[in-house]
Amino acid sequence: MPAPLTVVIFGASGDLTSRKLVPALFNLAIKGRLPEEARVLGVARTDYTDAAFRDHLKPKVRETFTSAGETWHDEDWTKFAARIHYAAADVTKPGGMAPIQKWFDANEGKDGGRRLYYLSVAPELYPQLGTTLGEAEFNKETGGFRRIIIEKPFGHDRATAKELNDVLHKHWREDQLYRIDHYLGKETVQNILIFRFANTLFEPLWNYQYIDHVQITAAETVTVGRRAGYYDTSGVLRDMFQSHILQVMTLVAMENPHRYTADNLRNEKMKVLDSIPVLSGAEAKKAVVAGQYEGYLREPNVPQTSKTPTYAAVKLNIANGRWKNVPFYLRSGKGLKARYSEIMIQFHCPPHLMFPLPKGEVLQCNRMTLVIQPNEGIKLNFQTKVPDVDGVRLQPRDLAFDYKGAYSEKPMPEAYERLLLDAIQGDASLFMRADEIERAWEIMDPLIAAVSDPSAPTPDEYPIGSQGPECAAKLLADDGRKWQPIG
Ligand code: BG6
Repeated sequence: MPAPLTVVIFGASGDLTSRKLVPALFNLAIKGRLPEEARVLGVARTDYTDAAFRDHLKPKVRETFTSAGETWHDEDWTKFAARIHYAAADVTKPGGMAPIQKWFDANEGKDGGRRLYYLSVAPELYPQLGTTLGEAEFNKETGGFRRIIIEKPFGHDRATAKELNDVLHKHWREDQLYRIDHYLGKETVQNILIFRFANTLFEPLWNYQYIDHVQITAAETVTVGRRAGYYDTSGVLRDMFQSHILQVMTLVAMENPHRYTADNLRNEKMKVLDSIPVLSGAEAKKAVVAGQYEGYLREPNVPQTSKTPTYAAVKLNIANGRWKNVPFYLRSGKGLKARYSEIMIQFHCPPHLMFPLPKGEVLQCNRMTLVIQPNEGIKLNFQTKVPDVDGVRLQPRDLAFDYKGAYSEKPMPEAYERLLLDAIQGDASLFMRADEIERAWEIMDPLIAAVSDPSAPTPDEYPIGSQGPECAAKLLADDGRKWQPIG
C-alpha cells in the first residue's frame, strides 16, 4: 500500500481553489493520472463540513468544466468528491493548526504520509504560514515528503522576495519549495524548449547573427474589475513581467542543458537572468513605457490619483555572446484588443536582394511566431512569388503549425494540472528557484521605479479594446521597428 497522499489547500474557500485547483485535480483523476490514494484537504476559516465543502465546490467546478467545453458527468464528480475533505482552522491564531493535526492523526495513521501544501492565501500571510507550518513540525518528513507550493506574487520587490525566501528557508529546504508560475505549466511555453532543442533546423539561426530582435507579448482583453485591491498595489510590471514574461524570455534565450533536470534547467535560466543588465534609474526611464486603460480610475477600489500601469512595454538586452545587440521587446496589458500571447522572432533581412521592390515598399523579412494562446501554434513567415503577374512580385505568406489541430484527440490541459502533478512527483523543473525569483525582481525593480516613483509621468491613457498606448509604438519606432499588431 502506498503511503497516504494529501494535497492540503490553505485558503480553500477562495476562487483559485474552486476555479483552478480542484478542477485540475478532478481532471487528473478522470484521466487516471492522479494517484488513487491522493486526497484533498481544504483548510479555511469558514465552518464547512466535508459535505458542505463539496457542495460549495460542485457548481463552480462544473461551471469551469463546461465553460472550457468539457463534458460534465455527475457520477465522476461524486466519485472524486468523496476524496475531498475539509478542516476549519484559523492558522493565523495560536494553536490554529490543531484541527489539521487532528485530521492527519485520524487519516494518516501512525506512520504518517506524503503531503503537498498549497498556499492559496493572501500573500501577506506566506511568511507567517510558512513559519507556523514549520514550528508545528508540518515540515518533518515522517512517512513521506512535505512540499509547499507558493502562489505568486512571491514578494513585492527584491528585498521582500529575499526576506520571504530567508523566512521560508528557516524551516524548509529549497527542494521542498515549489514557487509557482502558471505560465510554465502551459504546453506551448514548454514547447519552446522542444522546438529549439529537439530540432536541428532552428537552433543554428537562434542568435545575433540571424535574429534582429524578439518581441514577447501577453495581451489580455479582461480589465481589472474587482481585483483592484491586489492589482492597484501591483500593476502590470509586477503582475506579468516579473514572473510570466521574464520566465518566457529565459526559455527563448537559454542554452541547451546537458540533460532535462530541474537543476540543469534552472541553472540555464538563471544564467540568462544574470546576463540581463540591471538598469540604472536613467536607463530604466528610457527602457520602459506605461499605459493605463480609460476607465481604470472608475474601477471599484481604485484611488482617483492612481498611476498604476495596466500596460507596459519594456526593452531589455542580454549581455552575452548569443544575444549581442539583440533587443527583447516585452509588452503586456489589460483591456486590449485581443487575448493573445506570443513570441515573435524577427530575423535579419537577406544581405542582398536581387528582386526589385515597388517604389516605397520594404521587404518584410522572415519572422517566426510561437503562439502561446489562443490558437496555439507556430508560424514561419517568408516571402513567396506571386503567381501569374508580370515580372517578379513578392508577397509574405505563413507556413503554419496548429497545435490543437495536430493533436485533435488531446485537448490542451490547464496549466495547473501539469504543475500539481509535477509537485506531487517531486519534479521542480517548472517551478522557480529562490535565486531566479530574486534576480527577476532585481531586473524589474528599477523599471517599476521608473513608472511608479512620485516623479514618474502619469501613464498614457489608451482606449479599451485598442492596441495599447501610443508611447509603446514610439519605444520601437525610436529603434526603427514596429510591434506585431495584437489580434
Ligand atoms: C495572472 C495574473 O498571474 O495571470 C493575472 O495575476 C492575469 O492578472 C493572468 O490575468 C493571465 O493568465 P492567463 O493564463 O489567462 O494568460
